[in-house]
Amino acid sequence: MNQTSQAWGSRIGLILAMAGNAVGFGNFLRFPVQAIQNGGGAFIIPYLVSFLVLGLPLLFIEWSIGRYGGTRGYHSSPLMMQSMDKRRLWKYVGVFGLFCNIGIASYYCYMESWTLAYIFHSAIGTFNGMTQHEVVQVFNDYVSIGKSTLIPFEAIIFFLICLGINVYVLSKGLKGGIEKVAKIGMPLLIVFGCILAIRAFTLKAGVDGAVYNSSVGLNFLWTPHYQSILNPKVWFAAASQIFFTLSLGMGCIHAYSSYLKQSDDIALNAMAAGWMNEFVEVVLGGAIIIPIAVGYLGVDHVKELAALGGLGLGFKTLPYLFTQWGNVFGAFAGVMWFGLLFFAGITSSLAMGTPVQGFLEDEYKWSRPKTALAFGIIVLIMGLPTILFFNQGVFDEYDYWTGSFSLFVFAAFEAVLFAWFFGIKKGWDEINAGADIKVSRVFKFLLAYVTPVLLIIVFLGTVFAPVNNDWNEAFHGLFRGQGWTFDHGSVIGKIMNSELKEQLAAATSQSEIDSVKYRILLINLSRLLLLSLFAAIAILVRRAYYKHKREGNL
Ligand code: PHE
Repeated sequence: MNQTSQAWGSRIGLILAMAGNAVGFGNFLRFPVQAIQNGGGAFIIPYLVSFLVLGLPLLFIEWSIGRYGGTRGYHSSPLMMQSMDKRRLWKYVGVFGLFCNIGIASYYCYMESWTLAYIFHSAIGTFNGMTQHEVVQVFNDYVSIGKSTLIPFEAIIFFLICLGINVYVLSKGLKGGIEKVAKIGMPLLIVFGCILAIRAFTLKAGVDGAVYNSSVGLNFLWTPHYQSILNPKVWFAAASQIFFTLSLGMGCIHAYSSYLKQSDDIALNAMAAGWMNEFVEVVLGGAIIIPIAVGYLGVDHVKELAALGGLGLGFKTLPYLFTQWGNVFGAFAGVMWFGLLFFAGITSSLAMGTPVQGFLEDEYKWSRPKTALAFGIIVLIMGLPTILFFNQGVFDEYDYWTGSFSLFVFAAFEAVLFAWFFGIKKGWDEINAGADIKVSRVFKFLLAYVTPVLLIIVFLGTVFAPVNNDWNEAFHGLFRGQGWTFDHGSVIGKIMNSELKEQLAAATSQSEIDSVKYRILLINLSRLLLLSLFAAIAILVRRAYYKHKREGNL
């Protein structure tokens, strides 16, 4: 059995690290945008229900699998899962737990590096006196939008700095690295978040150029619309937000909890970290972008901006609106906003490195610094395409497959493994071993029947989503004999490149045709790269498996 010298230093350190793992861009950028796109208050009920019936049960599952695997010498999901059931499939399912982390880190660290650049630009007053258009231009130039041939040097430099910081912290191990960053970063993030939220709450129509009171945005988010309960599209968006924000279905929670002892609590810890994430998401994440942007631009315009994607509001709109608060407080607000995002980001990207480090340490006995460097190099290689071809949608492509699709697959399989193969009886004992709270029996029922079934349904839903996600219309159409048209965002639509093909058909000039063809080529290449990554990990896992089998461990 493999021994590792790694361990968490203290309980509070562990909880902050786990909360830091969960709290990320998902809380401050993705959540508000998902909420806006799905009708504000209409989103909240499906979101909260998903937290209770998918989020919390999956947290228990992942913490348990992690501690179970860790005490058997495995610190990444493939062999952890294999050790829970004899069927050979599980180690390949577990490959997702390494694949997702590398894939997500490859675009996430790029985003993290933007926050560094934006802290710098806010501090030196780059945005002062700029028009909204000019602020947008700063972002476009930075990521080289509209300049398809130029290499974005500044972006690459900040990306390298950001990777360097990650590698450095990871090389210091759990206690001396991750835990320290979480202990400084999380409290700071909450302080910055509270200051910005208070500023947002005190926004008044007619003062500092604001057009509406902050209550307009807050009401938009918090007035529930019950009819949304019948809309599957909102449910998928809510479930996928819950996965992303809690870092579920990725393998990094497993890795963190694999450094616990069998006698350590997981029930209370999982609850504490999970609820902390929800506080930061719903209370702080909901109290900054939406009330500020709506206060200046109104609900309708903000909806239009949100429809263009998640990043615009945080990187193009807010820096401009901060300048309305005067040069000094504006710069200060910018530093706090991007500082908050930086801490949110780094405590998450460190979590992405941990399973990779665990695997390399378990199987090859590499030292922490060496595993940290290996992670940095892999992310550099996998990340460069997202930088160089940001324009052509490679960033979004990574996000789709590794930050969304894979999570559904992995989560569905692990819930089935836990409840039906490992067995709910043993599973329930695992959750309760060492527990400092009494976990309600409702969760046993959820884990045994509800969560796995729901996850399978959600997974199938993402594969077969009909056009516009309009299931009612799609079923009616089917019965009328009109067949089934897949949504561009469904897994099948993606694989068939249906959106790009539509653009190709609608292109009117040769240059437009060429540019869409170029995009299709790059998208296909980036998928090939991701598939190769998956295959490479699977090969390493297979070898490790046979080695352990020979040694009689599995
Ligand atoms: N949960 C993080 C967020 O909300 C994202 C994340 C993904 C963290 C993968 C760790 C691993 O942004």
